[in-house]
Amino acid sequence: MENILFEQVTVGGVTLRNRIFMSAAACYNADATGDIDYGMPMLHFAVAKGGCALVPTGGVSGVHPSGRTNATRPMFDSDERIPSFRAFAEGVRRGGAAAVLQVTHGGAGAASYQLSLGRKPFVASHYPRHPKEGLGEVNREAAPATEEEIFEVIAAFGDAAVRARRAGFDGIQVHAAHESLLSQWLSPLYNLRNDAWGGSVENRCRLHCEIVREIKRRGGVDFPVIVKLGIEDTLAGGTVEAEGIRAATLLAAQGNVDIIEVSQGLQNMDDMERTCLRPHILSTDREAYFRTWAGKVRAAVRGGALVTLQGGLRTPSLMEEILQRGEADFVSLCRPYIREPGLVNRWAEGDRSRAKCISCNRCLWEHLTHGKPLACVFSDTPSEAGRVWA
Ligand SMILES: Cc1cc2nc3c(=O)[nH]c(=O)nc-3n(C[C@H](O)[C@H](O)[C@H](O)COP(=O)(O)O)c2cc1C
Repeated sequence: MENILFEQVTVGGVTLRNRIFMSAAACYNADATGDIDYGMPMLHFAVAKGGCALVPTGGVSGVHPSGRTNATRPMFDSDERIPSFRAFAEGVRRGGAAAVLQVTHGGAGAASYQLSLGRKPFVASHYPRHPKEGLGEVNREAAPATEEEIFEVIAAFGDAAVRARRAGFDGIQVHAAHESLLSQWLSPLYNLRNDAWGGSVENRCRLHCEIVREIKRRGGVDFPVIVKLGIEDTLAGGTVEAEGIRAATLLAAQGNVDIIEVSQGLQNMDDMERTCLRPHILSTDREAYFRTWAGKVRAAVRGGALVTLQGGLRTPSLMEEILQRGEADFVSLCRPYIREPGLVNRWAEGDRSRAKCISCNRCLWEHLTHGKPLACVFSDTPSEAGRVWA
């Protein structure tokens, strides 16, 4: 019975050695030019070597200058950045995994930085004037993107697809979950437009559809496109489940998306229990917290796109059950690899005990608040601790 997890699959022109992916982890910075700073340990190379089938970059918000959220984020808006990203793709492919570029845009999350540069933020309609105060009505600044600006950003995503191919990536992933521009654009909280780019779900999802259309057109039909889609916001008044599933259906029906990775939409990081990064996943009943959404998306898209489930997956027998039941086509993990980069090989070699990660999120806080290299605070070997990842 048990075997789907380790089956080889072909998507577009790309052969994947099994059905276990990595979920994107932005855990490195850029140097002054916008190139990736390889001075930090590169977890991704060790995860690729550790048996994982597909390894994305962390979200690259500098696909267009307006997307960059701060001066430490990598850029990918010019051919000069290709050698730096080629080193990433090569490092992942050397480990035997498919290398994928995750492209994103900060939208309202980039507003402070963009304003500090004297630029108008690129947002659906509004950004929070004081980011810590949220997007309450009194704290909203209106700055709707013009159609000309919208088409410029769409074209930039297409350019990124061409560059990604030239840099040796096997595919591209569009970030449309969590706090990304596309999450904002789908959300009635951030998108108050009343033209063709706002209002109905169809209109709020138009930018997603146009971006993936452009990526497929420029990147080629054999260059797989993954969309990491936020199905529901945890913020009151945001996108609701039915709308997220409708967006998945629209994307799949268009025929330009190969895989939809299901995740959370806009989320309140003060309430971690309702984010994609739920803490303390210590038993199987806490695992797979987006399972219902994945099943619903898979049923709704009717084969128009394959579906990846991520979020708290830790136990191989549970993942196998989910795939066997047709609730998803792939599974994807993030935090467990920070503790055990060789996790997939461990499972493939027969030790199928659950991932050691306890989802305490201390790796993330140490990294985000103290700028430490991403590492598990409980790791007991140097390689697990991430000091010699590469
Ligand atoms: C350090 C870190 C960085 C992350 N960066 C990204 C990112 O750049 N893009 C993204 O889509 N998700 C990002 N995530 C979220 C993960 O991809 C994933 O959705 C989440 O961790 C849930 O999966 P898990 O329970 O297996 O960790 C990040 C998570 C962590 C821990």
